[in-house]
Amino acid sequence: MITVNTVADLRTAVAQARREGKRIALVPTMGNLHAGHAALVETAARQADFVVASIFVNPLQFGPHEDLDKYPRTLEADQARLQAAGCHLLFHPGVDAMYPDGMDDQTRVSVPLVSEGLCGASRPGHFEGVATVVSKLFNMVQPDLAVFGEKDFQQLAVIRKLVRDLNLPIQIVGEPTRRADDGLALSSRNGYLNEAQRATAPALYRTLQGLAQGLRDGRTDYPALIAEGLAALDAAGFRPDYLEIREASSLRLAAPEDRQVVILAAAYLGATRLIDNLALTRAV
Ligand code: PAF
Repeated sequence: MITVNTVADLRTAVAQARREGKRIALVPTMGNLHAGHAALVETAARQADFVVASIFVNPLQFGPHEDLDKYPRTLEADQARLQAAGCHLLFHPGVDAMYPDGMDDQTRVSVPLVSEGLCGASRPGHFEGVATVVSKLFNMVQPDLAVFGEKDFQQLAVIRKLVRDLNLPIQIVGEPTRRADDGLALSSRNGYLNEAQRATAPALYRTLQGLAQGLRDGRTDYPALIAEGLAALDAAGFRPDYLEIREASSLRLAAPEDRQVVILAAAYLGATRLIDNLALTRAV
């Protein structure tokens, strides 16, 4: 695996692979990689001949009070993990390479509706930052496919919509969430949890499972189900941000007749905000 830092070097390496007739996959990340990211790269390697990963902690998607500065930078360990998972090329640009004219003047990509509510409500501008950097990466690499984790369910919906709306010839592949044995979704932010918080954290997924069971049992009293879920999160020691049941592809509020639904949650343990989701097919 080679690592490049400039857009010119990235384009040169990708052009070479393209000349060799290779199918190209992109796995965008912000680094501090765990087994969930490795799974994205392994999936990319199964579906393509040349896998490009990017590591860029994108300032445009962080709010003023978020964890941009303390976001962990672990390049050497990330390189080893990427290589082991089958990555061929790592793009690791600095902020100047990604935003040479600065960020204030940067053309933005915004995806209405699916970006609104859920994480979009508590993180204003976040999905515009994500859609903008992902669009730039798509244009730099021009991959045949790109792989994103389903843990960031709303992000994946935003990216699918952006690809559709802008007619980008890129197949978007969603990778199922990897979990610790106790059910906690793997996330770079888990590293911020202290021992007691880490012990509490699996209650987030257990709460989603409880709601999913209610839905499978045929319950359609969504507000009551959500109130029960919020109470369970509260009792476990979380400060819930949101807990919602949505239709799985549009992310509009779920109606009793929707078959494909997703339960999404964000909740704080101390200063750490965890997110998770559980998608299911209801019998209607
Ligand atoms: O999911 C992430 O790590 C980021 O939001 C992404 C897609 C790499 C864009 O910066």
